[in-house]
Amino acid sequence: MLDIETLTAVEILDSRARPTLAVTAGLPGGVTARAGVPSGASTGSREARELRDGDKARFGGLGVRRAVGHVNGEIAAAVCDRSFASLAELDAALIELDGTPDKTRLGANATVGVSMAVARAVAVAAGRPLWQSLAPAGVTPRLPVPHFNVVNGGVHAPNRLDFQEFMLAPLGAPTVAEAVRAGAEVYAALRGELTGLGLSTGLGDEGGFAPEIDSPEEVLALLVTAIEAAGYQTGREGIAIALDPAASEFYSGGAYHVAGQTLSSDEMIERYAEMTVRFPVWSIEDGLAESDWDGWERLIGRLGDRTQLVGDDLLVTNPAIIREAIERKAANAALIKLNQIGTVTETLEAMRLCREAGWAQMVSHRSGETEDSFIADLAVASGCGQIKSGAPARGERTAKYNRLIEIEAVAHLPYGLAG
Ligand code: PGA
Ligand code: ZN
Repeated sequence: MLDIETLTAVEILDSRARPTLAVTAGLPGGVTARAGVPSGASTGSREARELRDGDKARFGGLGVRRAVGHVNGEIAAAVCDRSFASLAELDAALIELDGTPDKTRLGANATVGVSMAVARAVAVAAGRPLWQSLAPAGVTPRLPVPHFNVVNGGVHAPNRLDFQEFMLAPLGAPTVAEAVRAGAEVYAALRGELTGLGLSTGLGDEGGFAPEIDSPEEVLALLVTAIEAAGYQTGREGIAIALDPAASEFYSGGAYHVAGQTLSSDEMIERYAEMTVRFPVWSIEDGLAESDWDGWERLIGRLGDRTQLVGDDLLVTNPAIIREAIERKAANAALIKLNQIGTVTETLEAMRLCREAGWAQMVSHRSGETEDSFIADLAVASGCGQIKSGAPARGERTAKYNRLIEIEAVAHLPYGLAG
């Protein structure tokens, strides 16, 4: 039985100096647990809705006092001193209380904070680590391959780079600790390369460098140089590269606008095909726009047998949309973000659908983060084998990677891609 005694929220800051929520749940026996709510910038249009105050006099309208008020008021009143059979039942009560399809009324930032805090409290009460408590029956937990976002562009940086994320994926590392070490060493080597070229080593929102380069191929070449300079092999036996162009952000008028060029869906697909031949690119997330479903189907036809093609804005961790995409073969992997859907239970359901369809999955942070490391435990629990949490730098990013290292040290779980 799950009895919630107290539920409280406060307005705190995220890593971009914007307000977000910290939620604390109290269970009987003095058990308490807390969760910090993340927030995206390049959001999919079908994501669950964050509730923001819109009061321009505070934080430019981005305050979350109303969402905080909903946790402390309406949600606490509805769930405290009530017994639930499970977290799933609590999440169902939150969905019903909100009453909208996208959590507009209470705010997905309020519901996800409550759901995460209670999930963690359940683990504390059971005396189990969060990853163990979250693991679905029949699933073998594993330590995921970290994807380190070391070059930032798009809406995450003020440079002229259209692609949003260039990530290092130490697929060939033997352990998560060695994978983190590889990420940090290549990050340091890349800083040296950029400095040598007279380029800025200033950082974007996810802690990656944000140099004034516009060509994605030029960045890929720099990454290969940095991987080799740090003494690692490129490719699946060593360190591969993953991209998140976040193409919805440079798609307009039915075309993709990259580094001064205007490309059709098919031209964009050929550009990616070429990149995967010239560089050790193993995964591409949101290579095409969320509205370009026909393009996605052709992308899968062209590259799906050798490249992981991850839907983020396309799928928004929404079980109904994922089901449709599985039927249409519009992707072969999903990005998983708790706040895109607004409860832990719906997130686990999205992950179950992917697992059963044989799709790969990558658990993800948001560009606006807190020091909460919940997603590290979620990635381990689900056995999905992949996580992205930005650069191997800045506390809100390293909190997740460090948590993985600490889980590995005590739990001795297998490391690497699932399946
Ligand atoms: P966001 O970006 O958190 O700003 O939405 C992350 C991503 O696109 O994967
Ligand atoms: Zn993305």
